[in-house]
Amino acid sequence: MKLLIFAGSTRQHSHNRKLAREAAAMARASGAEVTHLELADFDIPMYNADLEARGTPPDVMRLKQIMYEHPAWIICSPEYNASYPALLKNTIDWASSPVKSDPAWTDGFKFSRGKVVGVLSASPGALGGLRSQSHLAPLLLNVQCWVAPVNFALSHAAEAFDAEGALIDEAHRKHVQAVIDQVLWAGARLAGA
Ligand code: FNR
Repeated sequence: MKLLIFAGSTRQHSHNRKLAREAAAMARASGAEVTHLELADFDIPMYNADLEARGTPPDVMRLKQIMYEHPAWIICSPEYNASYPALLKNTIDWASSPVKSDPAWTDGFKFSRGKVVGVLSASPGALGGLRSQSHLAPLLLNVQCWVAPVNFALSHAAEAFDAEGALIDEAHRKHVQAVIDQVLWAGARLAGA
């Protein structure tokens, strides 16, 4: 099963980037073919239809193709003001906008339709970014993803990782593994494997 993992943060010491790295390592150990990408590696401006009219940025096209090629995704979302960050909204908005000049991409939801998506979140706060998940799920449903019912919110994230970025608490690892297991299970079934 090809699994795409990314975090909705580009911050150097991001808890969600650490969580994504951990999830990627655990998913590889579970036999998944993992692509772990960093949104910082994609040059994607804030969405503007005037800008888009001059041509969809090459990195948006690159990201759409990568997302399309993966039947299962895991997204690690920060929580900003009780929701998910603009980085994730902007990324999904660009990816879902039909590319009228390219016959392969006139279907805006081609990149996302039928993907099984597991959502993780991490926050230094007590709720672990859980409220970001409650907003992110409808966005994913709108682009026709199947959102996995098992999720995990890592609270007090500033104390949750060791110096190497590994999760310290075995219970946290079990929760992350449960999300991975479900995404791989459902992803394989929806992909017809
Ligand atoms: C936050 N943060 C935050 N945390 C939280 O648990 N609930 C919240 O509503 C908010 N709101 C919020 C708004 C804004 C504008 C900022 C900048 C931050 C804190 C946030 O979760 C924290 O900075 C995380 O460390 C961000 O995620 P990464 O970058 O560590 O992955």
